[in-house]
Amino acid sequence: MLVTLQSVLRRAQKRGYAVGAFNVSDLEQVQAVIQAAAALRAPVIVNTSEKAIAYAGLEELAVVVKTMAKKYPVPVVLDLDHGRHRRLAERCLRVGYTGLMFDASRGRYGQNIARTQQVVRLARRYGVGVEGELGQVKYPDEFQRSPDLVLTNPQQAQDFVRQTGVVALAVAIGNLHVLSSRFEHLDFRRLGAIRQRVTVPLVLHGASGMPAAVIRRAIRLGICKINIDTELRVAFSRSVRHALRQDHPYDPRDYLGPGRQAMMGVVKQKIVMFGSHRQAK
Ligand code: G3H
Ligand code: ZN
Repeated sequence: MLVTLQSVLRRAQKRGYAVGAFNVSDLEQVQAVIQAAAALRAPVIVNTSEKAIAYAGLEELAVVVKTMAKKYPVPVVLDLDHGRHRRLAERCLRVGYTGLMFDASRGRYGQNIARTQQVVRLARRYGVGVEGELGQVKYPDEFQRSPDLVLTNPQQAQDFVRQTGVVALAVAIGNLHVLSSRFEHLDFRRLGAIRQRVTVPLVLHGASGMPAAVIRRAIRLGICKINIDTELRVAFSRSVRHALRQDHPYDPRDYLGPGRQAMMGVVKQKIVMFGSHRQAK
């Protein structure tokens, strides 16, 4: 069933686990995520980035996710990931998205507040909660250009949440997008300080490849949503490559099927790691 972002995160916060937010851009990937969640009776967030939407089509992705959400008896959130354009956020709401992550973190603090506020106001009309980002969880090209970390300031986080009305906050505590290996540098003291000042569920981006111990510690310190993308793509692609090498198939089902299966395996592992299995009510 299709549910809102705020409803799954509230429950996760109360019960002390994190909901996996998994990125998709085609039918096989949506199936991998929702079928894995259904098999483990877990709530799940289906993340679609702006690039995924450009690739697959907004209406198309929405129909596939909503159709599957109806079919399986687990809570499913259809979520925009790193939305940077208000217009697209609005289009997502119109086609039935139930969660929005709006990322205005690259602008100045005041601009981040103002742009996030706008989207929160808009989403409220649809009963949908918004996740904002404060600090910057950088992508590899950004990190290469300027390798300084822009971490979340706990006091500012408190003010940001109060002023914007976001239902969740993505934090920058040394995490980076795309299979980083800097996990030993995660600033857990900072995460604890943010948790003390902010009552909304916190979100960990760039979690591909993070060891279970790191994930568990983050969950204990208030992380309720964990975003995984790269690790899924790697598993999918590796499996497709393997299938293509084996029999040189000409039928896409003969290599996309194994890709879907491999991705499903990773999603299941993560769900168990995050403690969200058997949490679908
Ligand atoms: O928003 C998406 C994520 O933060 C995924 O990051 O590709 O490093 O897993 P990742
Ligand atoms: Zn992210």
